[in-house]
Amino acid sequence: MDRIVIEGGARLHGEIGISGAKNSALKLMAAALLTDEKVALTSMPRLADSRFMAHLLARLGVAVEEGPGSQMQLHAAAITDTYAPYDLVRKMRATFNVLGPLVAREGRAKVSLPGGCAIGARPVDLHLKALEALGAQIELSEGYVEATAPKGGLVGGEIELPFASVGATEHAMLAASLARGESVIDNAAREPEIADLADCLTAMGAEVEGAGTSTIRVQGRDRLNGVTHPVVADRIETATYALAVAAAGGDVVLKGARWEHNKVLWRAINDAGATAEAVEGGVRVARNGSTIRGVDIETQPYPGFPTDAQAQFMAFMATAEGTSVVRETIFENRFMHAPELARLGADISVHGNEAIVRGVDKLVGAPVMATDLRASVSLVIAGLAAEGETVVNRVYHLDRGFERLEEKLTKCGAKIQRLSD
Ligand code: EPZ
Repeated sequence: MDRIVIEGGARLHGEIGISGAKNSALKLMAAALLTDEKVALTSMPRLADSRFMAHLLARLGVAVEEGPGSQMQLHAAAITDTYAPYDLVRKMRATFNVLGPLVAREGRAKVSLPGGCAIGARPVDLHLKALEALGAQIELSEGYVEATAPKGGLVGGEIELPFASVGATEHAMLAASLARGESVIDNAAREPEIADLADCLTAMGAEVEGAGTSTIRVQGRDRLNGVTHPVVADRIETATYALAVAAAGGDVVLKGARWEHNKVLWRAINDAGATAEAVEGGVRVARNGSTIRGVDIETQPYPGFPTDAQAQFMAFMATAEGTSVVRETIFENRFMHAPELARLGADISVHGNEAIVRGVDKLVGAPVMATDLRASVSLVIAGLAAEGETVVNRVYHLDRGFERLEEKLTKCGAKIQRLSD
């Protein structure tokens, strides 16, 4: 199994190109099921998760081709199967989003209940309610969801989400685009990935209004057309490298990063005493010898502080002056990085959904275990800031969501390499 070995202490200087967003790309790939024409996604991140989604789509009959550059072409000329088995869905939750498009286009589908990172219970009740509101009949049995559309297909409906779930909002948008008439999604999630999906579905011929606000209206169509669509820049990859610079020191321009998608994070970085500023074509993050102060954060749905950057922020706070409180409100089990960060000398105590981080003078490298995607990368950040050698084991978690991580960091002067057994 691969490991990542980091010799800490090097400051980061230069540029890092930000890739397309994993969490947008996966739903855009599911959108390819809605049309018999070609969907070309540009700025596609090459990740274990996108390969995994491609594998599932191929099984359903989609011709998937990678390249040239960071392009992926998906062509669902005909859907040959509407069954997504446990083995292809359990590892990654986003695969569940094929259910709605399959029911919308083929009238029925059988999809395994999903798995994914072990960060909480993560049910799919809201996804199923959304599909029911569009007329689908849902049955659950033996770990599978079987959904059937009424005769004549899905029909537009009112979807009221009790919680602004990202996945359920996207699932509803996908299915509603191929339903008859208008659908309204109330209390919709407002993440930039939702707006990206809305842009893509609109270019495919559906009419999607209000993405980025709490009410989204979708005018469905009988058929949708193909599209070439660029995947939005990854705001979590952006946050991750920003926090790596803020923790390890240096001066880096994150090329292609969208300032407006991480405003709360920039404020926290600046409040802590590092610098984040919008520059032409990206965001510049710097820390040149400044002392870092503890800053409290609470994760919230967008535009609040992203849960997917919470672990990385905690690694940054580990050597801040004073105490910071990190409150996690989205997932109930998302502090698995805390005991691993403690191996490097961090002083973190967890009480329910709150972690109290008491800043220490320095971190010292140690062997650590990656537990989930964002937790893993928080250990990389801590390793970059620490003295001495850190070995991150179980690197496959990182490969799910970070494209060419070692290469991007090495180019900025980090001493980081991958070792394979
Ligand atoms: C997406 O997950 C992202 N994943 C997550 O990123 C991200 O952390 C999350 O949104 C929040 O921003 C993808 O886009 C593939 P939710 P999603 O539905 O859609 C509860 C990463 O590291 N809920 O907004 O699954 C749920 O249990 C990943 O890249 C229900 O109760 O998130 C959670 O507590 C991790 N019932 C909360 O809502 C449902 O039917 C938020 O989940 C759905 C969700």
